[in-house]
Amino acid sequence: MPAIPVNPATVKVVGKPVNGISIDYQSSMTFVVRYTQVSLSFNKTIKSTHIMEIKDKVALITGAAMGIGFATAKAFAQAGASVVLADWDEQQVHAAAEQLSAEGYKALPIVCDVSDDHAVQAMMEKTVAIFGRLDAAFNNAAVQNVLAGAADQTPEDFDRVTSINLRGVWSCMKYELQQMRKQGSGAIVNCSSIGGILGGSQRGTYHAAKHGVIGLTKSAALEYAPLGIRVNTVCPGIIHTPMVNAMIAGGQQQVLDAMIESVPVKRLGRPEEIASTVVWLCSDAASLVVGHTLVVDGGYSIQ
Ligand SMILES: NC(=O)c1ccc[n+]([C@@H]2O[C@H](COP(=O)([O-])OP(=O)(O)OC[C@H]3O[C@@H](n4cnc5c(N)ncnc54)[C@H](O)[C@@H]3O)[C@@H](O)[C@H]2O)c1
Repeated sequence: MPAIPVNPATVKVVGKPVNGISIDYQSSMTFVVRYTQVSLSFNKTIKSTHIMEIKDKVALITGAAMGIGFATAKAFAQAGASVVLADWDEQQVHAAAEQLSAEGYKALPIVCDVSDDHAVQAMMEKTVAIFGRLDAAFNNAAVQNVLAGAADQTPEDFDRVTSINLRGVWSCMKYELQQMRKQGSGAIVNCSSIGGILGGSQRGTYHAAKHGVIGLTKSAALEYAPLGIRVNTVCPGIIHTPMVNAMIAGGQQQVLDAMIESVPVKRLGRPEEIASTVVWLCSDAASLVVGHTLVVDGGYSIQ
């Protein structure tokens, strides 16, 4: 989790705080810092209630049946949000929501193929009909392309991958923004990849879509920041999820081993490490983070 942006050594309370300064640890994912008027050491006065919390908010996560999406739904729920888990895998998304409900969280499963515009619109309508609003969204659903060099990729696979990984993000963001525009608030994180900032042999279609996600994000961020809505991108590195298991099953163990060897932290990332980043990006603690491409990859891409 990111550090709480208040250092008692450098922060002096001026005036009479309404509630004083308090730090409440509510769960591993929720900590709340409240302060009213503080004077920083460089003599700037900030009047704000600075809160990193998602409590009582509504969060929608696509591709939430497993992997990074499920870990993020769980992290939002642990932080106090009601969560909508959307996925095209009906059985898995119901099982995922039931698991969260059994742990005492508010979780709603919705079956939705993000490449189907009507299904995405219906997903948003159902979310608002049940929870009344949308505060945070993580557009995460994606698939891999069939491995092939640029000369041999098929139009069918190009259309399949881009319709989910790029058009799907575009479609989800569009309906989320329509709702958030009515509210005048909200935060969206779109899932790209280190494939969104690097090339990848035999993965041109996936990388093209993930590069596109960053362009969509920056453009929407510019348009909606003045309305109080923030849009950002997260770029996971190699994270241990079913997507990676599928790479292994598809005979790519050696590719994976070579990738792990080249990651400075010398390990796969955990889905929870992306989840906590997304929750932070959607919280008020990230209130000035707009249109950012946040790489979470153990240092892989800085070499
Ligand atoms: N795992 C990694 O190493 C890694 C690295 C970089 C980026 N990412 C990105 O992170 C995100 C999640 O990856 P993951 O590894 O958890 O994947 P995953 O394959 O484990 O899970 C993806 C989920 O998305 C769902 N999904 C796929 N297509 C869908 C569609 N059309 N409509 C609705 N749901 C759909 C699947 O059913 C599944 O539940 C993806 O955007 C992926 O590109 C993953």
